[in-house]
Amino acid sequence: MRERTILILTIITLALIGVGVAAGFGLDLMPESAASRSEAVDQLFQVMIGIATVIFLLVEGALIYAVFRFRAKEGDEGDAPAVHGNTSLEIVWTLIPAIIVVVIGVYSFRVLTAIEAPSEDEMVIEVIARQFAWEFRYPEYDNLSSGELHLVVDRPTRFEITSEDVIHSFYIPAFRAKMDATPGQVSEMVVTPTETGRYPIRCAELCGAGHANMVTDAVVERPEEFQEWVTNLTTLPDDPIAAGRQVYEKYGCGACHALEDVGSTSAVGPEMNGIGERAATRVEGMGAEAYLRESIVNPGAYIVEGYQDGLMPRDLGERMSQAELEAMITYLLQQ
Ligand code: CUA
Repeated sequence: MRERTILILTIITLALIGVGVAAGFGLDLMPESAASRSEAVDQLFQVMIGIATVIFLLVEGALIYAVFRFRAKEGDEGDAPAVHGNTSLEIVWTLIPAIIVVVIGVYSFRVLTAIEAPSEDEMVIEVIARQFAWEFRYPEYDNLSSGELHLVVDRPTRFEITSEDVIHSFYIPAFRAKMDATPGQVSEMVVTPTETGRYPIRCAELCGAGHANMVTDAVVERPEEFQEWVTNLTTLPDDPIAAGRQVYEKYGCGACHALEDVGSTSAVGPEMNGIGERAATRVEGMGAEAYLRESIVNPGAYIVEGYQDGLMPRDLGERMSQAELEAMITYLLQQ
């Protein structure tokens, strides 16, 4: 009888481990990968999914077994026997989880140290989160600022992440990279992108009414493409329409304002199609140009009916150069 029990338990254990391994390494739960840290992170994730699967099946299996095995017999109205406890059982179920947690903890720590290791030739990029947009600054390129993240393929990049208002979370699934953006604190994260392409960046911390719109892309480019992007961003084109379009895209206006010319359709803020004519009608006695200038520099001054105050960044007036502001107004007046 005892031998049979041991045999059954052995079969169940082996089956559980088999299912755990299959779940961990067989399920493809991660998105496409585009950074060097993915391999270590994905392996850790697979091991944890495997262990979690075994524990889940074990606990739920024991529970379901007990529900049927020890259910009340028909006509049995009495109480179940009082059981005081079992010291050796308690030691076992404390010790085993403790060992598992320590092993996962040491393993995780080793992965973290490996992926965050500093390397030479790092490009530092400052990530500034604010309700509800991302800003990326490049100290190496005269503090160039962009609403879209551009990276050089195979170049290690150190992000210095902070927030200007509430807590946000800087998350790039394809890089297996996520870090809170906390006001008053700079958090660091190292990523080496390995594949060129465009990858989504999301805010992973509920941060207010515009949280879902706090999206942009990471664009991984070859060095010469990156250099071209830098040059294009630092010089405004002579053509006023092209200049305005560039400013509109640089400050991520399309994330909230629909504008056919740049292909944005968002309806978080008032649409910009036809704004050149409408702008003159918004505030009595205020011309279109003055109205647009005020709306960019001081967006809380006048709120269009049906739209919410507080969503538009308050500091565009400080971040934009004079030439950019003028280009933007000229551009909008022609819409
Ligand atoms: Cu920022 Cu959610």
